[in-house]
Amino acid sequence: MDYAELREILLNLKNEALALIQDAKTEDELDRLRVVYLGRQGKINKFLKNIKTVSDSQKKEFGTLLNDTKTAIQETLSAKMQSAVSTDIDWIDVTLPTKRLPMGHLHPVTQAIAEITQIFEHMGFTRVRYPEVEWDWYAFEALNMPKGHPARDEWETVFIDVPPDPKFGAMVLTPHTSNAQVREMNRVGKPPIRMLNIAKCYRRQQDVTHTTMFHQFEGLVIDKSITIQHLKGTLDYFSQNFYGVGTKSRLRPFHFQFTEPSFEVDFSCTICQGTGFVNNKQRCRFCKSGWHEVAGAGMVHPAVLKAGGINPLIYTGFAFGMGVERAFTLKPGLKLDDIRPIYNNNLEFLEQF
Ligand code: FA5
Repeated sequence: MDYAELREILLNLKNEALALIQDAKTEDELDRLRVVYLGRQGKINKFLKNIKTVSDSQKKEFGTLLNDTKTAIQETLSAKMQSAVSTDIDWIDVTLPTKRLPMGHLHPVTQAIAEITQIFEHMGFTRVRYPEVEWDWYAFEALNMPKGHPARDEWETVFIDVPPDPKFGAMVLTPHTSNAQVREMNRVGKPPIRMLNIAKCYRRQQDVTHTTMFHQFEGLVIDKSITIQHLKGTLDYFSQNFYGVGTKSRLRPFHFQFTEPSFEVDFSCTICQGTGFVNNKQRCRFCKSGWHEVAGAGMVHPAVLKAGGINPLIYTGFAFGMGVERAFTLKPGLKLDDIRPIYNNNLEFLEQF
């Protein structure tokens, strides 16, 4: 008998068994079918003898086919047995363990957002949500970036093709979460403000540290006598709670139109502990320098306070905007040097978190 014929016979055997199992009404009938097909002298075991006639190259495939057939019959029998049992009796044992259903879990970015929110809520921040499809005015103009200003170029934004609003201008997918700053000032009116805005952002970028859609979390604190020390203390508290005690933050001078002074924020690398070296003076391949850039920050520019109706002679404030994916991939133990797999929908990758 050649291999194709054997496969045909096996398929018929399976179909025959499944049909008989479906028709069976009682536990006894099902038990008898189990012996006929899966018993030691059963049809499947007898069929196994044909393996002698199969060529070596096809033996593995033949074995898999046989196993699949056995499993299909076994599973159909068990399922039918359960329903036969439940119709035969007029009571149920509620203490029996249930069939375990496959369990999913939250996406790593959702987990990170929950953890970030919790850390900032401990410091008294209130989480807010503002539009992710936003007016030009909140995304740029109110942030001290008038139309045509070169600082706009670097945000590489995506505009929506709708007629502009006479007051707020064009409509844009938010390139950053800083649009929330003036919206929050408008909402609260009089400081104090301690805002945490977490939202999606969109830019025309794609490489190992950039995706076209990503999340940022924006902190904004406005009150009397707020200084850079408060900013530094907040970032240190966050990094130590998110990454572990001993993690440090570092501010490097930078330029943003909406903060003055402005900084880029780095966190010390959790692999080389900020030294830049591992194992006998080998350069840390994860950070190369001891630090990772994670955010932009600064003291809120007086022009932005004014746009939000707050008197800059009385109040000062700090703000920062950090990438959720960027911050997440630096967690100790993850060693993720590419953020793109987070959005590839590959379950083998996602199930690890
Ligand atoms: C900003 O977006 C400023 N709005 C931050 C800010 C807020 C400054 C408040 C001052 C006051 P920047 O473009 O550097 O800055 O982005 C901040 C962080 O967002 C980056 O450090 C990075 O962690 C993350 N990020 C930026 N672009 C991407 C991207 N394409 N993919 C993933 N993460 C990104």
